[in-house]
Amino acid sequence: MHEYPYERPVVADTIKGMGMKKRLLHIITGPRQVGKTTAALQVAEKWRGPVVNSSADSPLPQGPEGIQAQ
Ligand SMILES: Nc1ncnc2c1ncn2[C@@H]1O[C@H](COP(=O)(O)OP(=O)(O)OP(=O)(O)O)[C@@H](O)[C@H]1O
Ligand SMILES: [Mg+2]
Repeated sequence: MHEYPYERPVVADTIKGMGMKKRLLHIITGPRQVGKTTAALQVAEKWRGPVVNSSADSPLPQGPEGIQAQ
């Protein structure tokens, strides 16, 4: 389990949104290196449900079958 010195408000906001009755897709966007991946990992740590973690920003993009496998 990671320990981060700071937690952006988007972490709590996202968890709150994910817990709502209407199930929506949550997309975290922003400039480079602002902490998007860290925030997503913090959400995953706190979420009391199943988590699938897959990176899609490798230099060689995975094909549609990679997404399907997830
Ligand atoms: N909440 C935080 N507390 C401390 N350090 C952080 C936090 N969020 C991010 N960082 C640091 O800032 C750097 C960038 O974080 P991260 O990789 O999460 O950003 P990103 O937005 O996903 O970047 P990229 O656009 O390259 O994908 C990393 O070194 C990470 O450790
Ligand atoms: Mg990232």
